[in-house]
Amino acid sequence: MSQPQTARQATPRHYLMCRPTYFDVNYAINPWMDPDKPVDTDLAIEQWDNLRRLYLEHGHTVDLVEPLEGLPDMVFAANGATVVDDKVLIARFRHRERAAEAPAYHRWYTSHGYAEVASAEYVNEAEGDYIVVGRTVLAGTGFRTDPRAHAEAEKVLGVPVVSLTLVDPRFYHLDVALAALSDTEVMYYPGAFSEESLAVLRELYPDAILVGDEDAEAFGLNAVSDGRHVYLPETATGLAEQLRAHGFEPVGIDLSELLKAGGSVKCTTQEIRHRATA
Ligand code: ARG
Repeated sequence: MSQPQTARQATPRHYLMCRPTYFDVNYAINPWMDPDKPVDTDLAIEQWDNLRRLYLEHGHTVDLVEPLEGLPDMVFAANGATVVDDKVLIARFRHRERAAEAPAYHRWYTSHGYAEVASAEYVNEAEGDYIVVGRTVLAGTGFRTDPRAHAEAEKVLGVPVVSLTLVDPRFYHLDVALAALSDTEVMYYPGAFSEESLAVLRELYPDAILVGDEDAEAFGLNAVSDGRHVYLPETATGLAEQLRAHGFEPVGIDLSELLKAGGSVKCTTQEIRHRATA
């Protein structure tokens, strides 16, 4: 994909975020979490606020869901719901530690005028495992989201869902292994996927940006793209160069505190996609 680029266009996005007021690491549900390591909640808030302000400066809308005490992972708003064309599919969490986040997102959507808000029958960790690429949802399974949830998502959201199997526990959610860059382009870390899923990805996205070990381990794939800017952890410097070569503008973000819970930029950002109004 080394075509000369016409300038990439950013389009204004609508994000839902949750301030890390009660952020902490006091349980371990992924290999990055170590409850014995100290966490600086004030610093987490400052770093998170910096990302929120950047989104606003770039013309995006950021709505906030109220953080709840006792839910230290609620800052990872991507896990709360998946929204396509105003159809909202609420998460159902794999671990009881996070279960109470789902009703909070349900309340947020129903109280903000969304008419089609569905509770899930099967475990699905929303945009942690569901990545919307144009009119397709790429859906992860293997660690969190139940494979049966994929058909449920297809039915509720009304768009085709492509199942992908994750095999490396460090990349326990799809959104730490793959990111959408535009409606047709993705980047991913091949080592995170089963052979069958890799074959599917190669077929669908022959020109995808393939990301190396170091950038993947730095959570470089936990990125958000507005079509031009790609917000990603600032330590993923090799990936930033790759993105630049493809005409994107990488925006390095420091979320080092949230990384202690195994999350970064994309995890904190849920995208609300509205039906196009003609
Ligand atoms: N500690 C959280 C968990 O393990 C981190 C979630 C990160 N979110 C994401 N979308 N990958 O559930």
